[in-house]
Amino acid sequence: MSEVQIFITRKIPEPGLEVLREAGVSFTICQHREDDGLSQSQLLEGVSGCDVLLPLLTEAVDREVLETNPRLLGVAQMAVGFNNIDVEAATELGIPVSNTPGVLTETTADLTWAMLMAVARRLPQAHNYMVAGRYKLWGPNLFLGTDVGTGASGRRKTLGIIGFGRIGEAVARRSLGFDMRVLAFDPYAREAIEASELAEWADLDELLAASDFVSLHPLLTEETHHLIDEARLRQMKPGAYLINASRGPVVDEQALVQALKEGWIAGAALDVYEDEPAMAAGLAELDNVVLLPHIASASADTRGQMATMAAENALAFLRREPALNPVNPEVYETEAYRRRIVGSS
Ligand code: GLV
Repeated sequence: MSEVQIFITRKIPEPGLEVLREAGVSFTICQHREDDGLSQSQLLEGVSGCDVLLPLLTEAVDREVLETNPRLLGVAQMAVGFNNIDVEAATELGIPVSNTPGVLTETTADLTWAMLMAVARRLPQAHNYMVAGRYKLWGPNLFLGTDVGTGASGRRKTLGIIGFGRIGEAVARRSLGFDMRVLAFDPYAREAIEASELAEWADLDELLAASDFVSLHPLLTEETHHLIDEARLRQMKPGAYLINASRGPVVDEQALVQALKEGWIAGAALDVYEDEPAMAAGLAELDNVVLLPHIASASADTRGQMATMAAENALAFLRREPALNPVNPEVYETEAYRRRIVGSS
C-alpha cells in the first residue's frame, strides 16, 4: 500500500471527499483552487506515489502516466466522458478505468435545452443589452429570435439529435412540450431509435438538411472527430442552429466560425471547445452565439453525485474489486490485470 492511497488531481465536490473520509482511506488533492490546473509532471509524480488515481477530464492520462506506476490499481474518473484517458493503453497494462454515467444525464439534457432556447431567442445578447443600460424604450424589433415551438406560424420545428445515448434520448424527451419532429442519427443505436417513440431514424445527410436545431451528443472518438466539418455545416439550413454539449473536437470550430460569419447557419450554442479552454479566433466576437464554460453537468446535486460515484469506484479499486462503472470491463479478463492485483497486494 502506498502512503497516499488515492491521488485526486483537483478539488472535487465535498460529497465525494466525505465518502473517502468515512471509508478511512488516505487521499491527497493536488490542486485546491478551482481554476488551477496540473502540470504533467505533477500528475506523473502524484500517480507514481498512489494506489488509485482520481482525475478530472482536464488531465491527460496518457500511456506515460499509466506506465509510471506498476502498482496502480485503477483510474476512477469523475466525468462520464473519458477521451482524456488512453483507455487502450490502460487495458493493455491491466489498469481498470471507471467513469460516472447516468447521474448527469438529466442535468446535461436540461442545459442543452437552455442553450437551444438561449441561442434561438438571443438571451445573452438581450441580457448584455440590459446590463449595459441600453434599454430605453420597448421596441417591436428588439432582439427578434426564432421560435422553438410552433409559434405564430404554426410550423413544427425539427430537432436533429446526433448521438442517441442516454443524453441524446433525454434531450429528445424534453422536446415533447414543443411539439417538435425529432430526427436522430447514431450508427450504434439504430435499433433503439427505430424502437423509440421519441424520434425517427434519419441518416446524417438527411438529418442535417432537415433540422432547425442540430444537437450533438456522441462520444468523442476518431470516428466523430470533426464529424461536423465545413461540408456538413454547408448541408444545414441557413436558419438552423447548432448546439454542442458533447466534446469540442466533434466540430471543426474554425469552419463553424466561418459558417456563422457568412450565414450558412443562423447560430450556435457551445458548452465545449476544440482546444478547450481556448476558443477559435473570431468565435467570441460573434453576435449569434451562446458560449459556456463546459457546465452541462454543473448542478450542485449532480456534481456531488458524480464525485460520490468516482469516490466509490476508487474504493472498489482499493479493495481490488471490479469498478462499479467500468469503462474497460474487458481488462478483468487479462493476465496483466491479474498480475497487477497480485503484485500490489
Ligand atoms: C463532462 O463533460 C463529462 O464528461 O462528465
